[in-house]
Amino acid sequence: MSRPIALVTGASAGIGQSFAEALAREGHDLIVVARRRDRLQALADRLAAEHKSNVQVLVADLATDAGIEAVASRAASTPLDVVINNAGFGGYRPFVEIDPKVADDLVAVHIRAVVRVTRAALPGMVQRERGGIVNVASLLAFSGSLPPNNFLPFRAVYAGAKAFLLTFTQALAGELASSPATSKVRVQVCLPGIVKTEFHEVQGFDTSKMPPRMSPDDVARASLAGLNMGEIVCVPALEDPAALQTVDEAQRAVFPSARIPILASRYR
Ligand SMILES: NC(=O)c1ccc[n+]([C@@H]2O[C@H](COP(=O)([O-])OP(=O)(O)OC[C@H]3O[C@@H](n4cnc5c(N)ncnc54)[C@H](OP(=O)(O)O)[C@@H]3O)[C@@H](O)[C@H]2O)c1
Repeated sequence: MSRPIALVTGASAGIGQSFAEALAREGHDLIVVARRRDRLQALADRLAAEHKSNVQVLVADLATDAGIEAVASRAASTPLDVVINNAGFGGYRPFVEIDPKVADDLVAVHIRAVVRVTRAALPGMVQRERGGIVNVASLLAFSGSLPPNNFLPFRAVYAGAKAFLLTFTQALAGELASSPATSKVRVQVCLPGIVKTEFHEVQGFDTSKMPPRMSPDDVARASLAGLNMGEIVCVPALEDPAALQTVDEAQRAVFPSARIPILASRYR
């Protein structure tokens, strides 16, 4: 591989495939990760033909220790320019009914895999003083206080995992920015709304009853443009990013006023 190299998880469909295509168009070689080898190979062949990209296929199940290890070890041993931690699934279900194995898999794919692959890729990026990591979360990261209804699914584990990605990425960005030695590496958390991919079909949803969905190409486009602009939190459909500052300000208002050793009067 002679060009900048990007690793994309969940590249066999949807948003990950759009990221892979956009990065190939920008001149990257690629490592594409998912479970379905045939899909990944077809993508690799197409990107080689259309963009002359050198694309390596890495088949891995990120719900398993072996799959996470395989991707993390490739991330540690390759001089990556870009990592897109995108693989995921919804597993929407009332929490008391969710199969415990599905809950474990949600945590593994959305949290453990992202942390391990990021931990594996970052030291090399810091050493080379260049690189970017995108963690694909969801607007549902902001949905903790909203009850389920016609538009919002039962989603406690999924939304909790995506909220983890939001805080993880913001805290990591602050850590990287705090030292000149690490500040050249960028991290971003991307929070799409509803996107037109296989995500809902995989869960057996009737997509004809869903509201209009954004295209996965637009999500990848927003995220990569945002990464260039240094956006730490990218919300593809949010017209005024100042709204995100109000969320930060609310957190900052609560944090110092509650970081005191005095029990609030209502608990006394
Ligand atoms: N679609 C939406 O409305 C929406 C909204 C907000 C956020 N998101 C997030 O966007 C990301 C991409 O979703 P999408 O909409 O593009 O869904 P998608 O079309 O269903 O694609 C999901 C991708 O993740 C891979 N994947 C799933 N489980 C995996 C596992 N155990 N190991 C390895 N790869 C796995 C799938 O590949 P294989 O099946 O081949 O393994 C596929 O490539 C997810 O993190 C999702 O949570 C989606």
